[in-house]
Amino acid sequence: MRAWTTPSKDMLVSQDPWQPHRATIRRIVREIDSVASSVFTLEIELEPGPFAKRYRFMPGQFNMLYLPGSGEVAISHSGPPTGVASALPEGRFLHTIRAVGRVTRAIQRLEVGDSIGVRGPYGTAWPMENLLDQDVLIVSGGLGMAPLRPVIYSILDQVHRYGRVDLLYGSRSPDLILYESELASWGACGIGIETTVDRTDPSGVHPWFGPIGPVTQWIQRRKSRTSYPDFDPHRTQVLICGPEVMMHFCARSALEIGIMPSSIWISMERNMQCGFGACGHCQWGPFFLCKDGPVLRYDLAQGYLSIKDL
Ligand SMILES: Cc1cc2nc3c(=O)[nH]c(=O)nc-3n(C[C@H](O)[C@H](O)[C@H](O)COP(=O)(O)OP(=O)(O)OC[C@H]3O[C@@H](n4cnc5c(N)ncnc54)[C@H](O)[C@@H]3O)c2cc1C
Ligand code: FES
Repeated sequence: MRAWTTPSKDMLVSQDPWQPHRATIRRIVREIDSVASSVFTLEIELEPGPFAKRYRFMPGQFNMLYLPGSGEVAISHSGPPTGVASALPEGRFLHTIRAVGRVTRAIQRLEVGDSIGVRGPYGTAWPMENLLDQDVLIVSGGLGMAPLRPVIYSILDQVHRYGRVDLLYGSRSPDLILYESELASWGACGIGIETTVDRTDPSGVHPWFGPIGPVTQWIQRRKSRTSYPDFDPHRTQVLICGPEVMMHFCARSALEIGIMPSSIWISMERNMQCGFGACGHCQWGPFFLCKDGPVLRYDLAQGYLSIKDL
């Protein structure tokens, strides 16, 4: 077990926005462990103290996770947000991480009981207030499911306050479906779940009998009055999170079925350094995505999404 030592304990509760706060890994869930991808969820507990006491987060927000000797990465909250009945005890939260590079691979090697640094929460949240009394279409691609899971926990907390809620989840292949065991339980609680894959599992280990094709097909199906007689684009809010190109096409599909651009929300990613609007690393058009985003209203972002390499 590795312990993260710092020069002064007092520094950990300082107001310095660059200063990470010490936390301990309490649980690790290996979500996906395949040749193509390795994804795991950490349950993290902040060291008891003033920071842990005042720590609150909303669906869509992220933390900067710091591993000395490796670096810092932006990672979204993936667990129940503050205030819902299923929320974890004070100072505890979940992060779902795909091991892609130097820092995330180093975090993957941590064990229960190891220490990690946390700064946050940062960024804008999904517009939970705007979803009340509305139909909600949650569209997720791949790891985009992680920042959207807190939305689902929030909705499940007071499901009667929302109209029809559907989750359209697209995965590259069946073996890469995230939170698979939870999908059925969300369905049993009244959320419509549609899962589609780009291709079947070439190894045959995860047989697939569901639909194959882009998630946009499920958005387009709302045009069908037979399948969706009550569909009203004017009372539907759409939340999209996934690869940029997927969000671009899903937003266009949503527009085509009559949804207002101001009722579509996306979550953007760029390289983050400070997380609080001081360094400019995350600039995307006029936005600093760490503070103006990651969640953006589509009508404000639309013009920039189609600019290549912005
Ligand atoms: C607001 C926000 C929330 C995020 N939430 C999560 C999350 O919940 N779970 C998670 O696993 N990751 C999340 N990320 C992405 C994560 O921060 C990056 O993947 C991070 O750079 C990984 O660091 P690394 O040192 O391991 O890999 P790096 O060495 O930085 O990169 C490895 C590879 O990933 C690519 N890459 C790096 N950053 C990004 C990015 N932002 N988008 C797409 N590709 C990238 C690089 O081009 C490179 O090919 C989030 C990013 C942002 C900005
Ligand atoms: S990460 Fe520094 S300004 Fe956004």
